[in-house]
Amino acid sequence: MSRVVAVSNRVSIPRRGAAPGGLAVGVLAAMQARGGLWFGWSGQVGEREDDDPEVVTRNGISFATIDLEEAEFTRFLNGFSNGALWPTFHYFLETVNFSDEDYAGYLAVNRRFAASLAPLLRDDDLLWVHDFHLIPLARALREQGAQQPAAFFLHVPFPHVEALRVLPVYGELVNAMLVYDVLGFQTEGDVESFRSAVLQLHGAEALLPDGSVRAGERRVVLGAYPIGVDVEAVQREAVESQGSDEVRRMIAGLLGRRLMIGVDRLDYSKGLVKRFQAYERFLEIHPDNLGRLTYLQIAPLSRTDLRAYSRIRRDLEQTAGRINGRFAETDWTPIRYLNRNFPHEALMGFLRAAQVGLVTPVRDGMNLVAKEFVAAQDPEDPGVLVLSSLAGAARELAGAVLVNPHDTRGVALAIQMALSMPLAERLDRHAANLAVLRRNDIAAWHTRMIAALGEATAIERPPRVRRVR
Ligand code: G6P
Repeated sequence: MSRVVAVSNRVSIPRRGAAPGGLAVGVLAAMQARGGLWFGWSGQVGEREDDDPEVVTRNGISFATIDLEEAEFTRFLNGFSNGALWPTFHYFLETVNFSDEDYAGYLAVNRRFAASLAPLLRDDDLLWVHDFHLIPLARALREQGAQQPAAFFLHVPFPHVEALRVLPVYGELVNAMLVYDVLGFQTEGDVESFRSAVLQLHGAEALLPDGSVRAGERRVVLGAYPIGVDVEAVQREAVESQGSDEVRRMIAGLLGRRLMIGVDRLDYSKGLVKRFQAYERFLEIHPDNLGRLTYLQIAPLSRTDLRAYSRIRRDLEQTAGRINGRFAETDWTPIRYLNRNFPHEALMGFLRAAQVGLVTPVRDGMNLVAKEFVAAQDPEDPGVLVLSSLAGAARELAGAVLVNPHDTRGVALAIQMALSMPLAERLDRHAANLAVLRRNDIAAWHTRMIAALGEATAIERPPRVRRVR
């Protein structure tokens, strides 16, 4: 079996504290199952000594990481990746902040990743590159002489070309994606959007009848590979952590009240202000819940150097403060709003303890918290998931109560529906969701993607040319 080499900006080395975000959780689960090499940024910003990565091996996975210099961090990560690509891909077009310098920094870091990674590669490796930070990596690796088959998986949404076009370099980006052998997306909708960009740039002849794309002499396979969770592992964590101090403290603090929970990185795409407003609306429409329900919102800070993030943080603090000021009693706080992060096991324990899971992003590639909430429930007395129809997960989790996150009244009604749902209906919805979760679990995700990569390269591979140094 070929070795899989995963490449992503964030690398989560166990015991170094996991980075928040679905990518780190999903790729770690895949690597734990397959072994292999995981290459990326160390999370450290500092002086550059050389391009040699630091390599550590834990439980069959080799982690190879490099530091970023301050200027690289600013241009590559804050600038182009999080300041331009992230808002474009999530349809926050007014938030897009494009600059030539940032884009040049983005390309330069991709070249640096390629130069550090190339010497670690073996001939029969399979390359699996993750997310929007590393779109040009395959091209940079090919320039280094690397010929290994390469797949790219986009964890976030891919926008329709009419939105993508706000980026002056969108054509270059799409062409850089076409250097890969397999392109994986979260949903069929994302695949369709990518096809819209290919159509505009290369015309209908580039779209082949079998769904793949012609790129010169090559054929690029496109597919939807929805990321999933390790259902048994989540269940185990959720059950075992019920006895932990952290979960016991949280439950004791409820004083017997019902619990509604949200867990999101503090990001404008997560729709948190609208969510708080919907909860306020809910308390207005259904005052019988005053003092009876606690809403716990865990929102670890993220990308704090960017203005759009400090703005959303301020808005949330104001909104939470206003709602608590308006409705709180001396012995009850309507929203418990926490900016800290918790270990994954504790989070799974919190999710299990909740009667309602509120996952209402205004745009999301998949949203693994939605899936974790379902997996963490007690199957005999499951809580109800209220899920945004604009999250990728909504395409799969038909048993959730689907809402439009912009419709505060609709979300308020959905919360009430979830709280008053009879056991029989909760059981049916949960069973339906769990069946999808098992079918599209984390093993299905990486197995299907790697299989597609193996097949794509078995069909046609240009003759291997060794780079002469
Ligand atoms: C999302 C992205 C990931 C990213 C994570 C955290 O989940 O898809 O690629 O790592 O957010 O964002 P950060 O900027 O802190 O890496």
